[in-house]
Amino acid sequence: MKKYNPTFPNFPHMLHGGDYNPDQWVKTPEIWDEDMRLMKLVHGNEMTMGIFAWSEIEPEEGVFNFSVFDTMMDKIYENGGRVIFATPSGARPKWLADKYPEVRRVTENLQHEPFRTRHNHCATSPIYREKVRIINEKLAERYGKHPALLGWHLSNEYNGACYCEKCADKFRAWLKEKYGDIETLNTAWWTRFWSHHFNSFDEIEPPSKVGEQSVQGLSLDWKRFVTWNTTDFMKEEIKALRKYSDHPVTTNCMGFFSGLDYHKIGKELDFFSNDNYPNWAEGVKSCAIDLAINLDFCRGVKQGQPFIIMESAPGINIGGMNFCKVKTNEQQLLEAAKMISHGSDSIMYFQWRKGRGACEKFHGAVVDHYGKEDNRVFQNAVKVGEMLEKLDGVVGCGVESRVAFVYSNEQRWALSGENCVAGWEDKNGYYATTRAYYRAFYDKNIPTDIISYEDDFSKYDMLILPTAYILSEEMGKKLKDYVAKGGILVATYMTAVANETDLCYLGGTPGAGLSEMFGLRVDEIDSYAPVDGFGRPMPVTNSVSYGGKEYPLNGIAECIVPKGAKALATYTSNIQAGTGAVYENPYGEGVAYYIGFYQDGEFPAAFISDMIEKYGFEPPAPIICDEGICLRKREGDGENYYFVLNETEETKTVTLDKTYKNMLTGEEMSGMQTLGTCGFLILTDK
Ligand code: GAL
Repeated sequence: MKKYNPTFPNFPHMLHGGDYNPDQWVKTPEIWDEDMRLMKLVHGNEMTMGIFAWSEIEPEEGVFNFSVFDTMMDKIYENGGRVIFATPSGARPKWLADKYPEVRRVTENLQHEPFRTRHNHCATSPIYREKVRIINEKLAERYGKHPALLGWHLSNEYNGACYCEKCADKFRAWLKEKYGDIETLNTAWWTRFWSHHFNSFDEIEPPSKVGEQSVQGLSLDWKRFVTWNTTDFMKEEIKALRKYSDHPVTTNCMGFFSGLDYHKIGKELDFFSNDNYPNWAEGVKSCAIDLAINLDFCRGVKQGQPFIIMESAPGINIGGMNFCKVKTNEQQLLEAAKMISHGSDSIMYFQWRKGRGACEKFHGAVVDHYGKEDNRVFQNAVKVGEMLEKLDGVVGCGVESRVAFVYSNEQRWALSGENCVAGWEDKNGYYATTRAYYRAFYDKNIPTDIISYEDDFSKYDMLILPTAYILSEEMGKKLKDYVAKGGILVATYMTAVANETDLCYLGGTPGAGLSEMFGLRVDEIDSYAPVDGFGRPMPVTNSVSYGGKEYPLNGIAECIVPKGAKALATYTSNIQAGTGAVYENPYGEGVAYYIGFYQDGEFPAAFISDMIEKYGFEPPAPIICDEGICLRKREGDGENYYFVLNETEETKTVTLDKTYKNMLTGEEMSGMQTLGTCGFLILTDK
């Protein structure tokens, strides 16, 4: 494997820094110098500035004041640091909100928002776009040639949608472009249902909590439009910067956030960056898996290219929690090593320094209100900084995986709109299924990629396709082609039930030609759950018998009619008793597996363990690890970096298969090693 080009070719180092708001400290500029002293002490080399600084930079319409940032760009550079500069569109100033009400979002309840909070502008508003263009151009012109500048951070965590008339009009225009004529749309959305037939595109309204919710084709297209419109807004932001700067651009994303399709957004970015706030208090192992799957998702957005952790919490993350647990020293360091092990080329924080007021004043920061370096969180950041300085070789290294999960938020959107199966919706479905099968590989230390439907499948020996409920004919062909050429495909329940506009396939499912490939037909969709969709008890239970063990069901259980496929597992009771629940079918040079039920318990581990053995997937190195240790490798240009992470609160051992060099201490290591609670090793070949 070749190394990827470093994200910042003129600064090919692990970045250590984070969100920095010197504009909150204009009245105490001595703090700025103190920040420089502390940045060096923490082994920091990056500051992300300007994120919510619009009112500082343009205090009145057309009046610009760059003095804070002029000073800080120079100071940071003189002190050895670099800057990722943010465009300020994530929060607009009061004068703008007051003078141009259209920039304020209309909520899903159709209320025009007052000036408040952040992340709530209208992405369609021509005035907002124009004001953002002006300020972005000014920033690019001013800092585009500054030696401190590494790249651009667009806005902040783009999210949400606006329901104003301008957005509704744009949605209608987008639909017209997509469907051409209204009859095609009517057919695609099945609008003769409940008298919903439209005579023209002008009649269509965005779906909402107080509006339409019964036409899933409409809901799905609205979500697609929101991603498209957000991307369109973002592209205008990029265009304005590009006038004066060709530095790489990114926007900080939120991993499995379901509101946007990051695979589409990612195409417009030079590099992917993410905000990760793992909650170690939920239990070290469980947290490590949630973090791992997120990080693998990040790496997948740009086809394996390393990414940047833009934000993580030094200390507590107050977002959305009533009680926050501080991280132990070991957890803070393990978190950093883990992020690097899955493909990050940085550890950056929200936030560098705690503000004195407003709603994030208690959020973890490298520099506390206390302000000095003899503080536990600061000292942990020092340790992370020291570690990162030793890992420059890892920059640009990739992760080799023979197995990939094919994932799309479109499935999540489509599934959460379904009410066809009593009591069942996405809350216990798509993500949980993905995570359960991901975990099955994870626990065996088999690295997996998470890719999109548009990616190249051919480089993987095995694809896991969690519940691909909507699937186009074209995608059906792509999957068949993959298997015919020797690929192994594992799909779960409700695959290809409907096409891309949520019209069910006729003539038997899986549709899109996949019934033939799986060698079966799904006859009915049953479900097992403690309560039904109305909260009424569902006392009937069932389980699946596989490999001499029984696995209780707690969700979908399809009734399957085999058409040549071989059953590997059977249901134990009720109308499905004795019928197949998991099937294997050779197709062309490959094999297709179909798992007809939802199970987030022990079945995925048992089944995947057999698949791993059958197809000979191996961990990234023959290091023998106790249970609970995660082993990952980053590699490139003949260099290998091994991450051995104890993701438990117990002492564990590993046995090294040869002599390695410890990247952090420089010493040579071989034989049995002990790792304390959350302890880890980062090794390279001797
Ligand atoms: C992020 C956001 C930051 C900060 C942080 C707090 O989602 O981008 O600005 O609010 O959460 O955890």
